[in-house]
Amino acid sequence: MAFKLIDLPYENTALEPAVSAETLGFHHGKHHQTYIDKTNALVEGADLDGKPLEDVIKAARGSNQALFNNAAQSWNHGFYWHSMCASETSASDELASMIKDAFGSADEVKKQLRERGAGHFASGWVWLAERGGTLSIEETHDGDTLADQGINPLLTIDVWEHAYYLDHQNARPKYLEAVTKDKLNWAFASENLARGTAWKYPG
Ligand code: FE2
Repeated sequence: MAFKLIDLPYENTALEPAVSAETLGFHHGKHHQTYIDKTNALVEGADLDGKPLEDVIKAARGSNQALFNNAAQSWNHGFYWHSMCASETSASDELASMIKDAFGSADEVKKQLRERGAGHFASGWVWLAERGGTLSIEETHDGDTLADQGINPLLTIDVWEHAYYLDHQNARPKYLEAVTKDKLNWAFASENLARGTAWKYPG
């Protein structure tokens, strides 16, 4: 069964002004769709047809770079859409407590996401993740992902230029400031933490 482009969990205008409807239209409708299409085209030849996306990522890591890049980017974008929302949601008591232990406050998490995202060289992703009961900020380069690494991603922000160029041109810090201001979906992060294992791409 072919992988499908998942619907955005909100209207195209929901993330404005941080992320415009025009950016979401291209980013979801063109970029994410292309990663899905390429994954579907490559997965057949790799004898992984019918496997869940997470299994495809794991199998392709280190052995089939084209398939890995497209499968990981398909997963990362699905996770990213859910990491944002129209109006910032609340963290569960469990997540709030872990944030306090690891960072002192949610504002400090946002600050570190902004700093690590702004400082990340070239394209990639900045994450809030949990491993062994401890929270940390992580970065992955290009299409790399935390989907298959035995670490539980809670939230991510795409720092590829295509995520912000139409709205903020080359000013990545402005995009990060706007997204972390009031668009992070802490309820999604809380669900991921409570599950204890990495989110699964729907399908
Ligand atoms: Fe992207």
